[in-house]
Amino acid sequence: MGTYKEFHRRSIEQREEFWAEQAKLVDWQRPCRQVLDYSRPPFAKWFVGGQTNLCHNAVDRHLAARGGQKALIYISTETGQERTYTFRDLHKEVNRCAGMIRSLGVGKGDRVLIYMPMIPEAVFAMLACARLGAIHSVVFGGFAARSLAARIDDARPKLMITADGGLRGGRAILYQSMFNEAIRVSKSPPAKVVVFNRGLDKELGSVAGRDCDYEELRSRHMDDEVPVTWVESNEPSYILYTSGTTGQPKGVQRDTGGYAVALAASMKHIYCGSPGETMFTTSDIGWVVGHSYIVYGPLIYGMTSVMYEGLPIRPDAGIWWKIVADNKVTVMFSSPTAARVLKKQDPAFIKQHDISSLKHLFLAGEPLDEPTHRWFTEALGKPVIDHYWQTETGWPLLTSAPAVERTPVKLGSPGFPAYGYDLRLLRESDAGEAKPNEKAVVAVVPPLPPGCMSTVWGDDERFVETYFTSFPGKLVYSTFDWGIRDEDGYHFILGRTDDVINVAGHRLGTREIEEAVQAHPNIAEVAVVGVADPLKGQLPLAFAVVKDVAKVATQELRASQEKEVMDTVDRQLGAVGRPSRVHFVTLLPKTRSGKLLRRSIQALAEGRDPGDLTTIEDASALDQIRAAMQPAVR
Ligand code: PRX
Repeated sequence: MGTYKEFHRRSIEQREEFWAEQAKLVDWQRPCRQVLDYSRPPFAKWFVGGQTNLCHNAVDRHLAARGGQKALIYISTETGQERTYTFRDLHKEVNRCAGMIRSLGVGKGDRVLIYMPMIPEAVFAMLACARLGAIHSVVFGGFAARSLAARIDDARPKLMITADGGLRGGRAILYQSMFNEAIRVSKSPPAKVVVFNRGLDKELGSVAGRDCDYEELRSRHMDDEVPVTWVESNEPSYILYTSGTTGQPKGVQRDTGGYAVALAASMKHIYCGSPGETMFTTSDIGWVVGHSYIVYGPLIYGMTSVMYEGLPIRPDAGIWWKIVADNKVTVMFSSPTAARVLKKQDPAFIKQHDISSLKHLFLAGEPLDEPTHRWFTEALGKPVIDHYWQTETGWPLLTSAPAVERTPVKLGSPGFPAYGYDLRLLRESDAGEAKPNEKAVVAVVPPLPPGCMSTVWGDDERFVETYFTSFPGKLVYSTFDWGIRDEDGYHFILGRTDDVINVAGHRLGTREIEEAVQAHPNIAEVAVVGVADPLKGQLPLAFAVVKDVAKVATQELRASQEKEVMDTVDRQLGAVGRPSRVHFVTLLPKTRSGKLLRRSIQALAEGRDPGDLTTIEDASALDQIRAAMQPAVR
């Protein structure tokens, strides 16, 4: 892989020249005066002085050459609805939405919280914020009141844009009680709430003076033309909250110019997209994959983006391939869990559709096991490319870049460091570089390339503390993932070094789940760990100490208490974080200094050896974990 190696080498050794070249892929109102300002490590400022706008790059700049081309194809198998927007239509809708938002007093630098299902209005809202220089913070529709409130408190939005509900597998998830409750408990609630009514909630109410109906407001802004607000490249475009080791999610702050350039470059070199082609990313706009590759990446690159609301197997397991065939999708992006779900179905569902337009399928978000990688590659007859990245990076960190060089795929490996990343595998013990096949922490020597998080929203110190202090004496970004590199330079990811778990590609913090469990009045203490699951990658499992043992005295009582705890998690955090089981114990394994022995609990729950237990306070706590797991351990 001489070609790619050389490409990567140049991106590190001639960093500024390399990125100055990539910067030509997007429009600048005013060019930058400095490609990189790294005078305050580890804070990197890209394209300093350059003026640009994400909405202009995603929409306006395509009007002349491709105004009539489809920009957004919306398909919902939940409602049976399909809607198509050309770039010209999208421009109109975004202007209307920007007019609506502006009329509610939102301007440059103000935050707008978007809590929406997978409907085009969510995309309009994101782009409208970008147009105004306002900062959006999209919260995944699967999160509940408490998660939403934590994000409101941190982002302090002026406005919330939401809907009456989302749909999943034919079931409506109503939002009203969640946003009302979140606003009620929030310390800095938004003054205004715009609600898009899908007709799902027959009891949808409205708070006078606070709530406005999306359609009604839109009808008053039909002819609005809202000029683009040019912003300096380093001004924030959005905040996206992500889980870490504490119960308090971190607001990943993204810049504007660096992000636009990084996405455009990735569309070209990694995803091999071309303007005019169609990309289909199966994520949700509430996650980083949705931000980068449903909304901004394809649109900035002049591609058509497919936005899909629904399951991969409904009405049948051929639905995604039908979408590919009907829309001549060339680039597709999905997750290993979806691949495992489809693997259980008849491969004939793929064969029914003409997927010859598809160049390749990218998967990310969680480890891709070899058998699934092999099965999917054979079933599709197309390259399936595993690539690895994080909310923090915004675009791939380990990948192959087929447009630069078609390096052979190794099953189970997300490939090589993406250009721009000076990636190292560092030993946890002494921060030394690992030898081939030696397990170590995946780290990046800063400056991080364009597109990566610029800081933690409102907390520069937390940014440095969290990500750059894992290796004493070395200013290095830690991904908090274990990895290895083989003799051929291929990398493999082996899971997180911290307490973050990955359930069906959804990143969750065990602390957040613990806090939600503890909201149940009878729970004194709880430990949540991620346990390997053949379909979803990991599942959260809870071990809880109750206050009143009489409430868990019999099998029936335990079952009812377990159900109550699960319902509490659904209400607090959202069903995405619901533990698969809640086991009741009288004691949790802790060290003498009171630290939870989480790795030992996880090992026992997976039927493995609990490891070093010299510091344990009371070893009988482990017996309770073993006993709880008894029926499940084979
Ligand atoms: O642990 C890694 C895992 O997902 C984490 C990042 O999750 P999130 O912030 O939601 O961003 C997802 C963006 C695709 C990583 O720290 N992860 C992501 N991709 C892979 C992966 N683990 C193994 N293989 C991957 N390809």
